[in-house]
Amino acid sequence: MESICIIQVQDLNCELLVDNNKSILDNLLHHNIPIRHKCHLGICGSCKYKLKNGKVRNNPDFCLSEKEIAENIYLACCSFPDEDFEIEII
Ligand code: FES
Repeated sequence: MESICIIQVQDLNCELLVDNNKSILDNLLHHNIPIRHKCHLGICGSCKYKLKNGKVRNNPDFCLSEKEIAENIYLACCSFPDEDFEIEII
């Protein structure tokens, strides 16, 4: 069953309805939000964002450092909406 939550994107000052079954990267691209991306597999590290508020479901990724993880940095292609949340694209 499809479920929907709201994502706030800092700096772009917008709120988007997103599909919980699609990655955050796919949701952002669906709404034409500019975010760097390349592999869609968690390897290239180009789709990083910082989670400011809320919670996401995260699949294993291969290119984030322990420091980035501690700083709430995620990969948009490896994470999925779980509840309303706010991000900053970095
Ligand atoms: S697009 Fe390569 S890590 Fe997300």
